[in-house]
Amino acid sequence: MAKITVSIIKADVGGLPGHVLVPEELIKVAEDNLTEKKESGDIIDFRVFNAGDDLDLIMTHRHGVDSEKIHRIAWETFELAAEKAKELKLYGAGQDLLADAFSGNVRGMGPGVAEMEFTERKAEPVLAFLMDKTEPGAFNLPIFKMFADPFNTAGLVIDPSLHSGFVFEIWDIYESKRVFMSTPEEMYDILALIGGKSRFVIKRVFPKEGGKLPADEPVAAISTEKLYLIAGEYVGKDDPVAIVRAQSGLPAVGEVLEAFAFPHLVSGWMRGSHNGPLMPVPFRYSQCTRFDGPPRVIGAGFQLADGKLIGPVDLFDDPAYDYTRQKAVEIADYMRRHGPFEPHRLPSEDMEYTTLPKVMEKLKNRFEDI
Ligand code: 13P
Ligand code: 13P
Ligand code: MG
Ligand code: MG
Repeated sequence: MAKITVSIIKADVGGLPGHVLVPEELIKVAEDNLTEKKESGDIIDFRVFNAGDDLDLIMTHRHGVDSEKIHRIAWETFELAAEKAKELKLYGAGQDLLADAFSGNVRGMGPGVAEMEFTERKAEPVLAFLMDKTEPGAFNLPIFKMFADPFNTAGLVIDPSLHSGFVFEIWDIYESKRVFMSTPEEMYDILALIGGKSRFVIKRVFPKEGGKLPADEPVAAISTEKLYLIAGEYVGKDDPVAIVRAQSGLPAVGEVLEAFAFPHLVSGWMRGSHNGPLMPVPFRYSQCTRFDGPPRVIGAGFQLADGKLIGPVDLFDDPAYDYTRQKAVEIADYMRRHGPFEPHRLPSEDMEYTTLPKVMEKLKNRFEDI
């Protein structure tokens, strides 16, 4: 049997109201189009989600990663949804569709992509994490914890099949370079990079050679598109998505989820210009209202059955995450009290792609030497 590919392709094609959420009407347009593609056999299965105002398409198929066919399906779906958004005069209709016409691959055209091709195991738990109001680097801390932190993932200590560790593919998104590094040996060097999450982002995680799983098949993949580097100016934060496989030589589902129990500070939130806590929420709370946030993540859990998606389970719809959410609200409130001051507002370097340069331009003739 050919390998299976899971692709999550996402775009913000319009919000209701402002940047709060994707309305039902758009979800329906996307579902109708993907139903056609499923019936015609182009994809095996799909689910459509919204992470706040981002429209997330989860598709399974056998065309591999970077498939023109699959990327075209996603692009067309976003175009149809954007048309609907324009008709409804939604906010930022078509916002993330930066190119006028599809040219073979959605990368660099606005949408975010996380996809991976692998051999489906006897039982294949696949978890999708969809974020809004933050950046790809928001995944660095939880992904690191899942695959490398023994205080998070008990299996790293008590399951010999995890002992050899994992390989992290890390991208420098400013220099367009990547490096492969191994845990546990290079853990400190890895942290030296990924702690700087606006520049260094984990793109993929692989098993090591000689283990239970093939070393060339990823076990996690994260979208790393930087919208502002594509468009040359701020056009909305590049709200990221990730796919994580679990169990049998990998972190258990509960170990993967445990990594989100700490609402760590991420950048994004209001106008993509503020630090705030990442709040794990159930699907029904995937809407960003307080100060357009706080940044949040939903988790959708599936088992794969020959590419068919069994599920989803709404992974953060659990009172066990109430404390994390409460903590996030407390941190949100604490950060908000800083108003326009750093470190609530992002440091000036990160504000370069916002509207701040316009303020500097206005004041430029009033500055004198001291
Ligand atoms: P089961 O024994 O229920 O399969 O669970 C094993 C496990 O990985 C729990 O984290
Ligand atoms: P999005 O990136 O989710 O569209 O949000 C942009 C924004 O400005 C929120 O205040
Ligand atoms: Mg938006
Ligand atoms: Mg968004």
